[in-house]
Amino acid sequence: MVSLADVMQQAYEKYKGKHGGKNASYIPYLAQVPSELTGIAFVSVDGEVTAFGDSSYHFAIESISKVITLALAIEESGSEAVHSKIGADPTGLPFNSVLALEMHNGKPLTPLVNAGAIATVSLIKADDKEQRWQKILDCQSRFTNSATQLSDEVNQSEQTTNTHNQAISLLLKSAGNMYSDPLEACDVYTRQCSTLINCVELATMGATLANGGFNPCSKQTVIHSKNVPHILADMMMEGLYERSGDWAYDVGVPGKSGVGGGLVAVIPNVGALATFSPPLDPAGNSVKGQLMIKHICRSMGWNMF
Ligand code: DON
Repeated sequence: MVSLADVMQQAYEKYKGKHGGKNASYIPYLAQVPSELTGIAFVSVDGEVTAFGDSSYHFAIESISKVITLALAIEESGSEAVHSKIGADPTGLPFNSVLALEMHNGKPLTPLVNAGAIATVSLIKADDKEQRWQKILDCQSRFTNSATQLSDEVNQSEQTTNTHNQAISLLLKSAGNMYSDPLEACDVYTRQCSTLINCVELATMGATLANGGFNPCSKQTVIHSKNVPHILADMMMEGLYERSGDWAYDVGVPGKSGVGGGLVAVIPNVGALATFSPPLDPAGNSVKGQLMIKHICRSMGWNMF
C-alpha cells in the first residue's frame, strides 16, 4: 500500500516546477519573495510530522490569520454572537470587495474576507489595541506550537499600503458593524497578517482544528471542541474566496489560503496538510498549493463528502 509520505513526495516532485500564477504585488514585500520556493507538510492528529521541500521557510501568514482570530472571537463571545454580528455566507466576490459590503448594508457576510476579519478583530475583548494584538498573537502561537513573531518588514510594507482596508474599516463603522475604534482594528488586523509561519507550523494549526481544538504537538487545548465545526464550516464556504465552491467540488475538505502563498487543508480526525508556494491564482490562492493538496487528498481518499 502506498504511504502518505510517498504520496506527498510524488505531489512535491510533480508540482515543484512552474505552474503559472503570480506573487501578490499589492503588498511590496510579497512581490519579492522567491517564487520558486515550494514546501509541504502534514501533521497528524497524533502529532506526527511529514515534510518535503521548503517546509521550514517562514512566510507571511496573511489571511490564514483570519481563522485564528475567528477562533478566539468564538471562544470569547460564543458562536451565536459571532454568527449574528459577522455572518457565515460566501460573498462570491474578491476578498477585499467593498461592493460585497455595500450590497448588504455594510454588514460583512463572513469572517474570512477582509471586512469580516477586521470586524472580528474589533470583537476581541481588550482594554486597548496593544492588549487586543497580544491576545491574537498569543493565540497564533498556541495554534502553531511556536513563538509566532511579527515581521517588522512585512508589517511596514502592509501598513504603508493598506488604505483600502482602512476604507473598509470606516465603512463598517458607519454601518454600525465595528466594535472598537475602526482604524485601530485595521492596524491590529494588518499586524495579524504580518506574522511569519512555516509549513510545519501551519499544518500544526490545521491539525489542532482536525483534532477538535486540542493541539497534538503541544498537547494543549487551544479551543473548545464545540467551536471547531463552526470554524471549519466558514473555511469550507469562503476559505478560498471565489474559488471556494470549486475547491469543495474538487477537494472536499475545509481550506484556507493567504496571499503570502500559504494554504492549509483540514482533514477532520486525520490531520492537516499545509503548503507554501507564492504564485497565486486571480482569487489570491496559491496555484501549486491547490494542485499538491488536491493530488494528495485524492490519492489518500480524503474527502468529507
Ligand atoms: O488584507 C489583505 O489584503 C492582506 N493582508 C491579506 C489578504 C489575503 O491573504 C487574502 N488571501 N488569500
